[in-house]
Amino acid sequence: MKSILLTGTAGFIGSNFVPYFLEKYEEYNLINLDLLTYAGNLQNLKECEANPRYKFIKGDICNRELVEFIFNEYDIHGVIHFAAESHVDNSIKNPGVFVQTNVNGTFTLIDVAYKSWMQKPFVYKEEYKNCRFHHISTDEVYGTLGETGLFTEATPYAPNSPYSASKASSDMIVRAYNETYGMNTVITNCSNNYGPKQHDEKLIPTIIRNALKGNPIPIYGDGKNIRDWLYVLDHCKGIDIVYHTGNSGEVYNVGGRNERTNLQIVDRICTILDEKVPKEKSYKELITFVEDRAGHDRRYAIDATKLEDELGWRADENFDTGIVKTIDWYLKKYNI
Ligand SMILES: NC(=O)c1ccc[n+]([C@@H]2O[C@H](COP(=O)([O-])OP(=O)(O)OC[C@H]3O[C@@H](n4cnc5c(N)ncnc54)[C@H](O)[C@@H]3O)[C@@H](O)[C@H]2O)c1
Repeated sequence: MKSILLTGTAGFIGSNFVPYFLEKYEEYNLINLDLLTYAGNLQNLKECEANPRYKFIKGDICNRELVEFIFNEYDIHGVIHFAAESHVDNSIKNPGVFVQTNVNGTFTLIDVAYKSWMQKPFVYKEEYKNCRFHHISTDEVYGTLGETGLFTEATPYAPNSPYSASKASSDMIVRAYNETYGMNTVITNCSNNYGPKQHDEKLIPTIIRNALKGNPIPIYGDGKNIRDWLYVLDHCKGIDIVYHTGNSGEVYNVGGRNERTNLQIVDRICTILDEKVPKEKSYKELITFVEDRAGHDRRYAIDATKLEDELGWRADENFDTGIVKTIDWYLKKYNI
């Protein structure tokens, strides 16, 4: 039985990943290290609590002593690193914690992994051969696109927000550990996720929650910013495939080929809510434009051809199917 260290899985993507991964791989123990910041919620992992192959540890990925203790105590044979400060708006107000967690935290984890698994550069200790460090990152590291074009793995990094700059920096650290020390690393850069368990602060939960409460639904600027939306479970399946079959040192983009403007998103959600929970007036009347986010990237879109062609990944959901599942989950959450 091998132990894998997962970080930040009390958050949105990790808490969708853990139940999926636990069920699929009976040969793994999963150790979840999470600081439980405002973004982490153990309720998200209630379904896994009783599983003897799952253990939660509350702590900071920047705490080197703790990370070393976990590697020794649980004989860690792999890392899948989700933990991060992840909200762009917060990074504009308070960038320091993004650098601390996303850059220093990633450094601490990979450096402890290196010292635990390897004798010297390019030489793994016999018992840790094939141990892999998987870094979860974002398409935001590539900056913003014009009306056409897609981000590929060869697109030069041009992060624009303190969030994306801190994620880009962490990607570079992981890259350096592969190049300099020969560590077995993979990086996945994914587009915007949506689905169950996402924090209230993010766009889609904000739309659904405000609509159901009859509050104004805030939309930044002119609502024409474009994101490439991926259902969270499809991201989890991509991570699984890359962790198990990706080539060391490689970067894989993960994206759903589902570009939508924020206006299209809010319109679709309101249409579905009008059908499922009709009120006197359409939910669309609640849409309210608010002052744009500073430095708001205009368009992100991912070319996932490498992951699809080389590793056989395919998204199972498109936006129209995934958003219905998501809305159903929130209706249940709000007992509607
Ligand atoms: N949500 C998206 O659309 C998206 C898209 C692409 C990539 N990503 C990346 O995926 C990863 C997970 O994103 P998410 O949306 O689940 O984030 P999230 O904000 O929902 O969860 C982050 C988790 O990390 C934990 N955490 C924060 N600081 C920590 C620290 N110092 N030590 C230990 N744990 C800490 C939090 O408690 C929380 O549980 C992040 O690395 C993010 O950059 C997210």
